[in-house]
Amino acid sequence: MCGIAGYIGDSPEQNILYRLRLLEYRGYDSAGIAVSDGEKSDGEKIVITKRAGELKNLEAALKQAGKTAGAKLGIGHTRWATHGKPDEINAHPHVSRDGKWAVVHNGIIENHAELKSELKKLGYEFYSATDTETAAKLLEYYSAQGAAPLQALRQTCERLEGSFAMAILHAGEKKIYFAKNKSPLYLAYAENDGKKRTYLASDVICFSAQAREYYALPDGVYGMADENGAEFYDKTGRIFLPAEKLSAAYTGEEINRYPHYMLKEIYDTLPALRAETTYFESNFTFENYPLLCGANGGRGFTKAVLVGCGTAYHAALSGAGMLGRVADLDSAAYVASEFRYYCPKIDENTLAVFISQSGETADTLAAMQEAKRRSAKTLAVVNAEHSTLAKNADAFLPVKAGTEIAVASTKAYSCQAAALYALAEFLRAAALPLQKRCAPDFSALNALCAGLSYGDGNEEKEIARLFCGGKKLFFIGRGDDYRTALEASLKIKETSYLNADVYYAGELKHGFLALVDENSYVVVFATEEATLQKTLSNAEEARARGAGIILFTTNETALPDCPEEKFFRILRVNKLGGVAGGNPLQCVQNILPWQRIAYELSVEKGLNPDKPRNLAKSVTVE
Ligand code: AGP
Repeated sequence: MCGIAGYIGDSPEQNILYRLRLLEYRGYDSAGIAVSDGEKSDGEKIVITKRAGELKNLEAALKQAGKTAGAKLGIGHTRWATHGKPDEINAHPHVSRDGKWAVVHNGIIENHAELKSELKKLGYEFYSATDTETAAKLLEYYSAQGAAPLQALRQTCERLEGSFAMAILHAGEKKIYFAKNKSPLYLAYAENDGKKRTYLASDVICFSAQAREYYALPDGVYGMADENGAEFYDKTGRIFLPAEKLSAAYTGEEINRYPHYMLKEIYDTLPALRAETTYFESNFTFENYPLLCGANGGRGFTKAVLVGCGTAYHAALSGAGMLGRVADLDSAAYVASEFRYYCPKIDENTLAVFISQSGETADTLAAMQEAKRRSAKTLAVVNAEHSTLAKNADAFLPVKAGTEIAVASTKAYSCQAAALYALAEFLRAAALPLQKRCAPDFSALNALCAGLSYGDGNEEKEIARLFCGGKKLFFIGRGDDYRTALEASLKIKETSYLNADVYYAGELKHGFLALVDENSYVVVFATEEATLQKTLSNAEEARARGAGIILFTTNETALPDCPEEKFFRILRVNKLGGVAGGNPLQCVQNILPWQRIAYELSVEKGLNPDKPRNLAKSVTVE
C-alpha cells in the first residue's frame, strides 16, 4: 500500500527516487516527489513532480523536464488509491494554495469531508479528491494566522482524526517536518565519510541498507528533521526523545540468482523454517510466555480464536485445526474484517491470536482492538517484530520468515503455519498441572525441516501450461487438504488472474457439480489417508461429467481400486516422515508445489509475479 520516504543528505545516488524504488514492492498506482534543494529550481520553491502508474513514468517525466530527484532534500510517495482515482491529480505530494507546503501521507483522515467544507467556507479551493489535501490546506491556514511552521503542524495534527503518517516540506527550509498517528513511520540517521544523513520512511526496508539503527515513532508524535538530527514533540508540545532505538538486519535483500522475489522466497522457506525452529526451541518457553500459562497449571483460558486476512486467515484455519487436535482446545478461525463487526462470544477466558505477515493490516489491527475491548488475552503471531500488531498485543510470538517482498505471500504462510503448530504444542504442554509440566515437544518442526522437498519444478511448469489452456478450474478437498486448496487457489488468483473455485469435496453433489463439464479441470487434493476413499469417490462424480481430474496426493499414497488411468494427471508431493501417525505439518510441504504452480502460471502468462495488479503488500486501510 502507500509508501512514504523522506531524505536529507548529500548522496545523489540515494535520492528520493532511489528510496521510492525500495517501496515499490508494497504495491501502488501512482507516485510523486517534492524537492527543494535548489539544484534546478530557485531554491525557495518546492518542485513537485507526480505521475500515474509506475515509477518509470515519474522518472521519465523528471528527465524530460530536466529536473533532479532532489539529491539533498526530498519527500516522496507511492500511492495506492483510497480517496479518488489513481491519477496524477490525486497522486501525492499535495500542496497548499500558496505552494509553500507539500505533504505526503499514509492513512486515512476520517474527518476530511468536514474539514474541507470548513476550509471552503474560508475561501480554500480543492483540486483533488484526496483526504490528504486538507492537511496541506490546514498547514497554510494556520501559517497565515501567524503560526511558526512547527506550531502550524501541531495545530493541524490536532484537527486530524483517523490515521496518518506524514512527511512535509516547507518552502525555504532545509528540513522535513513529520507527524504520526496509527500509521507506521520510522526515522533513521547515518554517517558515512563524516557526512550525515537523515531518513524518514513508512517501511524500514527503505533505509535498512544504509542505516542499521532507527526509531519507530510513537503515536501522537510530530517534529522536524534536518541532516544533523531531529526534534520530536508530543501532543502537549513537550520535546522528548523517542526511547526505543531499534536495529534492523539488512532487509533490502539481494535477489541473487532468482528472476523474481516470489521464486526466491519460495526457496527461502526451508532456511526460514530452520531459523524459526531454532528460535522456538530456545525462546518459546513457559517463563517467556506467562500469558499462555495459568499460574497454578493449566492454561488460563478455555478457548481460542485465530484471526487474519487472506493468506494469514488460511494459516489461521490450519492453526485452529492444530490447536483443536494437538492441544485439545476449542478453537476457530475468523476473517479479521468480519471478526470486528460480527464478533463471536469471547471474554477474559479466550485467547485471541492475530496472524499477520506485516503486522500493519488495518482489519487485523481493528479486530485486535475489538478482542481487547472484550477482555480477551491477545497474542500476535507476526513476521514484523516492530509492527503495530506485535507491539500492541499482550504477547508476541515471532514468525521468522524474514523480509517478504513479493505481494503473494509464500514463505510467510509456511512459517505462520509452523508457528501455530508450535503454539499448539506449547498449549498442549501448558495444559498439564504444574508438577507434570515439561517443555513443549517441537520435534515435528525438526522433522519438517529435515524432510521438506522442493522437486525440480518441471511438473509444476506442465500444470501451469495446462491451466493456461482456458478450462474452468475447480479445487476440492477435505480437512487440511481443503485448507491447502484455499491457499493454492488464492495464490493462483493473485499471480495469474485465473479463477479456481474451491469447494469441500463432499459438497460437490450439493450444487456446484452443475458447473462441471468437459471444459473443466477438477483438482482433487487428497493427501490425507483418512478421507482418501471418500474424496476419490467425489472425483469420480466429476469425472463422470467429463471433467479432467488432476489428483494431488503424496508419493506414499496407494490408490486402492482406482487405476491411475482414471486421472488426467497425478501430482505427487513428498510425504513427511519422522512423526508417528504422520507429520501434522504436512500442510507446509503440500503448499510448496502450488506456490510454484502459481509462480509458473504468472511467468507463462508474461505477468510480473512479484506485483499483481490492484494488490498491495501491506493493506493498511479497512
Ligand atoms: C497473500 O498472498 C496476500 N497478499 C494477502 O492475502 C495477505 O496475506 C493479507 O493481506 C494479509 O496480510 P498480512 O499477513 O500482512 O496481515
